[in-house]
Amino acid sequence: MSDASRAPVREAVAAWCAAQPAPGPFQPGVTPVPVSGKVIGEPERLAMVEAALDGWLTTGRFNEAFEARLAAWFGLPHAITVNSGSSANLVAVSTLFSPRLGAAAICPGDEIITVAAGFPTTVNPIFQNSAVPVFVDVRPDTYDIDPTALDGALGPRTRAVVLAHTLGNPFDLAAVVDFCARHNLWLVEDCCDALGSRYRLPDGATDWRPRLPSADDPSLWAASDQPQAERHVGSFGHLATLSFYPAHHITMGEGGAVLSFDLALRRIAESFRDWGRDCWCATGCDNTCGKRFDWQLGELPRGYDHKYTYAHLGYNLKISDMQAACALAQMDRLPGFVEARRRNFDHLAARLSDCTDLLALPAATAGSTPSWFGYPITIRPEAAINRVDLLQWLEQHRVATRLLFAGNLVRQPYTQGRTFRVPAPLVHTDRIMNDTFWIGVWPGLTTEMLDYAADQIRLFLGRDFD
Ligand SMILES: Cc1ncc(COP(=O)(O)O)c(C=O)c1O
Repeated sequence: MSDASRAPVREAVAAWCAAQPAPGPFQPGVTPVPVSGKVIGEPERLAMVEAALDGWLTTGRFNEAFEARLAAWFGLPHAITVNSGSSANLVAVSTLFSPRLGAAAICPGDEIITVAAGFPTTVNPIFQNSAVPVFVDVRPDTYDIDPTALDGALGPRTRAVVLAHTLGNPFDLAAVVDFCARHNLWLVEDCCDALGSRYRLPDGATDWRPRLPSADDPSLWAASDQPQAERHVGSFGHLATLSFYPAHHITMGEGGAVLSFDLALRRIAESFRDWGRDCWCATGCDNTCGKRFDWQLGELPRGYDHKYTYAHLGYNLKISDMQAACALAQMDRLPGFVEARRRNFDHLAARLSDCTDLLALPAATAGSTPSWFGYPITIRPEAAINRVDLLQWLEQHRVATRLLFAGNLVRQPYTQGRTFRVPAPLVHTDRIMNDTFWIGVWPGLTTEMLDYAADQIRLFLGRDFD
């Protein structure tokens, strides 16, 4: 379909969008206050229709444009899309087990340090690759790893650290990166809840940058002499992951991405995403390597078609171009989304600031500028409040709540009987499992909604409100 011939379709989409009724006025106790949601409109719908009219369907021009724009946002050379944040974690962690990494590859039975207070699919790829998660405790104020617990978790088979920036709050990157550099460990940052969060190393800290080891230098880190600046989280480790499920900072319905500083890691990640194939041709292309019928790999005969040569135990985790089109349009909104999330977080913090005798309110990690996913709250023991009672009260008043995902993963049914290590009691993790919840800060929430949510919490606590 030529560009001009699409004009009536675009006009029809624009007219349909314009005809949609605006949301009615906020009605306290009637209008829901969701924890998360998507903000999409005419640009996303138009982009998805363009992609549908292309008829290409699988990853195509919109995906190419989105991957390039996403990588540029992070200041990284490589971003590849996958069909969820969970798939992104599976691809990122599996990448580190690739035989292509030689002696640097992680092996089954090796240990990977992580936390138990979080989302299961940050950790599941460790189990799925037959490695051993080593769970350390988190800080009660930031909900991120307690870096003072790292040394106690180290063992002879420790090979990597895999961590999420919890609810958008960056973990202590200075401490974690320094630990990884000192012990030559891989680092994977799960940024599924943290798109737009930034972090600045403290003055005087070594600015370690990830590198790939070579035959004569096994180092996974190199000290950088570039001037230190605040950077996006996701640009500190060897690999990073994103989710584009509608609850997240931008959406494509279902989707995710894997980010990296290095082409070799990107190629391995792509291979895991694309059936495990050795060939790296884009969809619809042939012979990108220039020797499609000239390889000899495995025990295959020389010249066996590179397109059907498999280097990894792979998956198919690709997205469609309609999904990429939606996310590409969302990129225009991303700076505004991040700003709105920060503003909403600050608003809730101000409205609850005199409740800190009963509620522990969250703290941004030192040196960070979070792009918050939610507003976490922990009920203090002195409050003598049952969390279920408070959550039910809020739900009855149409204020949605969520727990900090799995709470404590080692207490979930599916981890029972699995092999993992817990070097020290997970005191704060258990506390989070029992007493923490979070409410929304997403851009679709209005000041009225935030005030109402804070007021309902205050009312339950017996506090006055205006
Ligand atoms: C920290 C974290 N990692 C991974 C995921 C998984 O993302 P997805 O739902 O896209 O699979 C989530 C989901 O919310 C998450 O919060």
